[in-house]
Parts: sequence; C-alpha cells; structure tokens
Amino acid sequence: MSIESIQQEALLAIETASSVAALNEVRQQYLSKKGSVASLMNTLKELDPEERKSFGAQVNALKQSLEAAFETAQTRLEAIELALNLKKEALDMTLPGTTMVSGTLHPLTMVTQAIEDIFLGMGYHVVEGPEVELDLYNFERANIPANHPARDMQDTFYIDVEWLLRTHTTAIQTRALEASAPHVPLKVICPGKVYRKDDDDATHSHQFMQIEGLVVGEGVSMANLKHTLETLAKAMFGEERKIRLRPSYFQFTEPSVEVDVSCHICGGKGCGICKHTGWIEVLGAGMVHPHVLKIAGYDPDKVSGFAFGCGVERIAMLKYGVDDIRHFYTNAKPFLSVFKRFE
Ligand code: DAH
Repeated sequence: MSIESIQQEALLAIETASSVAALNEVRQQYLSKKGSVASLMNTLKELDPEERKSFGAQVNALKQSLEAAFETAQTRLEAIELALNLKKEALDMTLPGTTMVSGTLHPLTMVTQAIEDIFLGMGYHVVEGPEVELDLYNFERANIPANHPARDMQDTFYIDVEWLLRTHTTAIQTRALEASAPHVPLKVICPGKVYRKDDDDATHSHQFMQIEGLVVGEGVSMANLKHTLETLAKAMFGEERKIRLRPSYFQFTEPSVEVDVSCHICGGKGCGICKHTGWIEVLGAGMVHPHVLKIAGYDPDKVSGFAFGCGVERIAMLKYGVDDIRHFYTNAKPFLSVFKRFE
C-alpha cells in the first residue's frame, strides 16, 4: 500500500474513532512495532541508498503527521468522555433521602440506666451477679434459713437443692457484702433480672427486674437512707415529690420500711393511680440486719449499712403510665416506639 493511501486510511480511522479505547486500537494498528508504519520502515533495507533516503523521509513525515492527528483526537475524545461521566455521576440534591428507621432503648433499660446514673453521681458502683444463684446467697446469707416461712413469700424456681433462679437482687447484695468485707465504705447499685413462680397477669410476671442499693460504712444511719431515697424519688418522679416511710418487715433488714412516694399524677390529692390515698408504694428498704453483716465478714459493732430494693417494671409503669406489665415482654413495636420521645 502506498504511503499516501496509508495516510488517508489512518486519518479517516482516527477521525471516526468514537472513544479513547477505539482510538488506542487504531494507534496499535498503525504505530505499534508491528503496525503499518513499522512495516514500511522494514522495507527500507531492500531499497538502494538513493531511494532509501527519500522514502525514509516520507515514512518519517507520515509517522509525525499520524502522531499529531492521534494527539488531537485523543484530547478531543477525553474531553467528551469526561463531560459524559460528569453528567452520568451528577447528584440530584433535590431528590428525597432514604429514611433510616432507628429503634429505641427498651423502657426497662431506660429506667435502669436512669437509676444507675443517679447513683453513679453519688459515688456508687454498679455491680451485677448471676441469675442462676446459690440458695446460700439468695436466702441463707439474707437471713432466710431453710424451711423458714419467709421463703414461701417468694415462690422459687429451684434447679436442685442448692441452685435456683434468684428471686431478688438481694442475692447480689449478699455477694457484694462478702466480696468487700471488712472494707468500708461499700456503695453499690445492683440491677438484674429476678424470677418467681407467679402466674402472669397485668401486675405479675414470672420474670421481672429489680434494682438493689446497698451502703455500708461507719455511722451509716436511717437518716442517710431517707435522704438517699428522697433523692431517688425526686430524680425519678419530679422535684416536688415527698416520701414517707412505713414500718415493715424483711428478714435481712432491721428496722425495715416500706417506702411510699407522693403521687406524681395528682400531686397527693388522690386519684385512680394512687387509689385515692395520695401515696404510691415503690420500694422496700431498711438498715442491713447485723446478722447479715456478720455472716458476710463485717463487724456490726463497728459498721452499719442500709439497703433498698425496687421493681424496675413498677417504676416504669408509674413513670410512663403503662397499665400492664406484660407489655414490657411482648416486644410489640407500637408499644416500644412510644418510648422514643423519652430518650
Ligand atoms: N428483696 C426484697 C423483695 O424482693 C426487696 C427489698 C426490701 C430489698 C428491703 C432490700 C431491702 O434491699 O432492704 O421483695
């Protein structure tokens, strides 16, 4: 093929290449080591010196003109491709976004964390314990010996004679006492699940949550307990809340009290929630029984302590106006999503 026709053919191919990739193929065809221009160069050696000179100059001119044409075409095609890509990847900022559905903390977790926060702020530590518990820590160390009628008050899921599902977080209390005796001060808050052989209804569940508080130190008094419970009641139900202590009985505290909070719904005037008394019973408490301190390794002549235990569901039901304890355990989305606004 003549130099001229190669040039014409190549320039046409360069002109009509529709992409950078297609242009590169054309370049291979003409300018690579095995391309048309190289083949022309190879024929040089067959020519006599005179002809070789002028033919060589023509092939070189061809090569340069093709390289220039490739350069120009490449710049043009790259600009076109860039413009196309920019158009394709353009973001439409006016399109509506995808809504992310976020969950919420479980109301029992909210109440537990809120109570923990109050006590962490007062220098307490959060302590947990096993749900499958020894009779020893659940009953024995809480001053409730075998065959004592008090055990009937807390119908127990026994695993065998030694092991059971703990019936109260007082089991964490007795473990915490043993673990830190004889050191003071001991200030712990103990949240956890507890289990009782109850028939489930609107106010009973065979599994529920409690939070236990425990302080041991020199000169710890009933006045300290009262102030602490007042702080808890105000933080959970509002600054205007008052508390009242009524005498009660628990094996592991002496004296023992039942604690009422002035009704946060009617402010104490009397309503359906407080059964028209103005007061709502929220927890049990008392001074840690000297015997409980002693068997854990403390000297009750030198130190004293107070403790309290409350039901998390009960607090949550009162705080959020929930009328059935079973709502906490059915995982119904409409119920749970209500708590978003309390986060
Ligand atoms: N353990 C008791 C219960 O489950 C609650 C309780 C009462 C805990 C008085 C205490 C306390 O620490 O001092 O009914």
